Amino acid sequence: MQRAKILVACQDRAARQRLAETFRFRYQTVAVDDGWLALHLVNTTAFEAMVIAERLDSLSGLDVAVSVRESHRNAEVPIMLVARAITPAIREMVETGVVDRCVAEGVETGAFLFEFNSMCGERAERAWGALDDDVARVLGTARRSYNRVFAATTADVPFDAALLDEVATHLVGAIQGGRISAVMGALQSHDDYTFVHSLSVAAVLAFFGKQIGIREGDLRIMAQAGFAHDFGKRVMPHAVLYKPGPLDTAQMVVIRRHAAAAGQILRCSPGIPSEVINVAERHHERLDGTGYPHGLAGAQIDDLSAVAAIGDVFSALVDNRCYKPGYAPEEALRMLGDMAGPHLEPAYVKTFTEVMHDTGFASWVAPPRESSL
Ligand SMILES: [Fe+2]
Ligand SMILES: [Fe+2]
Repeated sequence: MQRAKILVACQDRAARQRLAETFRFRYQTVAVDDGWLALHLVNTTAFEAMVIAERLDSLSGLDVAVSVRESHRNAEVPIMLVARAITPAIREMVETGVVDRCVAEGVETGAFLFEFNSMCGERAERAWGALDDDVARVLGTARRSYNRVFAATTADVPFDAALLDEVATHLVGAIQGGRISAVMGALQSHDDYTFVHSLSVAAVLAFFGKQIGIREGDLRIMAQAGFAHDFGKRVMPHAVLYKPGPLDTAQMVVIRRHAAAAGQILRCSPGIPSEVINVAERHHERLDGTGYPHGLAGAQIDDLSAVAAIGDVFSALVDNRCYKPGYAPEEALRMLGDMAGPHLEPAYVKTFTEVMHDTGFASWVAPPRESSL
């Protein structure tokens, strides 16, 4: 499969290389330093998105952005402007839709990626309107719910339990109606991987639950738990959450706080089932006690949290992230098998693997990837 192309127009060679490296698992980057050359490409090549710096050789990035909107090929393409400074004139360009997002030069890469991903995600969301109602309803409700959660940045802002249940109800309905492959297929085109991961884990858990005969009410609990398990990431700085590379020790300490933070968010939200809170707090606990945040072991970890840990790891393995390509589903299931015993409950891993194989679900959850990766 060919990766979609993005245009990066930027004078700074190191910045161009950094962006190409950052996008390498998702997009093919066409990088230029010259405004006229950028315009030539805009008129000859279809792009999925553009990153245009204000400073360019021969022509300003602002002029390039205006011309993109008048082009035949790329008039609707999301444009992210990297400005020298966010002036009132630049703000007006965002408000009038000449560009979709704007960041200042020197912005930290994680914060840049957060903006870029949400910009491209909005384009993916517009395409959901053409999907069948039941599929669009799952995705739309989930996105609305996710946006509500992540609009806050502290753990003391409660979440609406009814909205979480609505997401779960639509998702379980899609699973019962045999529509989950369509949901997963459409979901993979979204760029916000924390959102994609949250809904993927919800789908994996509820689908698995249905296959092993769990009753419908409990499937909704499983779906809620999956969707909410990483809500604590809302307290993470974007620089850490969207860092395009391995985290250092201090950043690992920060990211590990998300499990406790998710528990805090859900505990202050009236009406959230206790099972959902348990999963949020325990999905990184491991059988041998090496997990976090509390180092729980064996029977201290409830069954649903133990299953959620498997779904979480599986989804994380198959997802494309900016720092790694997704593993093929078969490879991810093999890696899960290696973690059975010390980390993950072996009996559950075995059943999970069989279900993923036998139903074909594993291939639905995997994002598009190139055969060469
Ligand atoms: Fe997590
Ligand atoms: Fe997760």
